[in-house]
Amino acid sequence: MKRFALALLAFGLCFVASFASAEAAPPQPPRQANGLALTPPMGWNSWNKFGCDINEGVIRAAADAMVSSGMKDAGYRYVVIDDCWHGERDANGDIQADAKRFPSGIKALADYIHAKGLKFGIYSDAGKKTCAGRPGSRGFEYQDARQYAAWGVDYLKYDWCSTYTQDGKSSYETMSDALRASGRDIVFSLCDWGRNKPWLWGETIGNLWRTTGDIYDGWESRDGHYNGMTNILDMQVGLEGYAGPGHWNDPDMLEVGNGDMTFEEYKSHFSLWAVLAAPLIAGNDLANMSAETKSILTNKDIIAVDQDALGVQGRRVARDGDYEVWAKPLKGGGRAIVLFNRSKEAHRISVSWEALGYPATLERSVRDLWTHKNLPKAKGSFAADVPSHGVVMIRVDA
Ligand code: GLA
Repeated sequence: MKRFALALLAFGLCFVASFASAEAAPPQPPRQANGLALTPPMGWNSWNKFGCDINEGVIRAAADAMVSSGMKDAGYRYVVIDDCWHGERDANGDIQADAKRFPSGIKALADYIHAKGLKFGIYSDAGKKTCAGRPGSRGFEYQDARQYAAWGVDYLKYDWCSTYTQDGKSSYETMSDALRASGRDIVFSLCDWGRNKPWLWGETIGNLWRTTGDIYDGWESRDGHYNGMTNILDMQVGLEGYAGPGHWNDPDMLEVGNGDMTFEEYKSHFSLWAVLAAPLIAGNDLANMSAETKSILTNKDIIAVDQDALGVQGRRVARDGDYEVWAKPLKGGGRAIVLFNRSKEAHRISVSWEALGYPATLERSVRDLWTHKNLPKAKGSFAADVPSHGVVMIRVDA
């Protein structure tokens, strides 16, 4: 009898245990992307030009200039305040703007930007402090996301300073969940400098992820700055397959117009970022830009390559020392092609149809995307003289 009672008890426990474990782990639906940024985000960010030296006047002037310069017409939308907008948290833990620099408050600034038909972005950090030592979002993720939504934020850049032993994926996942719970559509820009290989897990967590440390306004590494434009470019090789509509590799913001590269070098920078399907986030002083800078940033032929609906990141398809060919497949079977000359002398560079994945007999129309002229049709290959540190960029179509 005693044995029977024990067996009954064991059966009962097993039954309860199996029921409980079934309860504890219902099958999880796969995480879905947030459906935003189906083409690479375009906009402006305060950091590359202004660093911490920002205030509401600087941000409003950038929004004004984005409209008056033709940048908005060319497709730029997001006006993003980077680090240093923050004050302290109040007694409830709510994050406050720096009252001296932003006396009208963040909501008023967002309203100003929205009234121009633009979108508004802001910056925080997955750790306790931002890279410039302002309050980060660690432990306040849901509270901050709710606050951003109430202010009218459309884009969050989320940095990786002061994170110590935090896990990358779960830290970004927490803020991703918090943004969704806020009920507002907010593009999520992951900025861990590639530390946690976000291309491996970021697809359903964010919309873009930095692949490297910070860019600096220079052709190549120099004076203790490691990531000149060409160094960043080289670090993109191999990541092409991870990008697609809604989730982009981010080789960092543009330096076009900041003064330490030449006109040819800035044209190369812009052309190559477009072929990479990179987010096009201008980082110069929009209110005081030269006609040359504007002609680069508003080149609609090149922006169309970046924004092509197929959403495939281009790759380096040929390399011979300092001479390279980069190509990006386009919707409808065309290709955008950048002939890139890293050397100190002008050089003739050619691309074969084979390198583009075309049969040699295929005839294609050719358009020069810097002169905006249609060139004679080409079959089998295309060649052009390319200036030192410069590019020739074309598209070939049916
Ligand atoms: C990091 C980021 C930069 C910028 C600064 C701000 O370095 O990578 O893009 O946001 O922080 O402090």
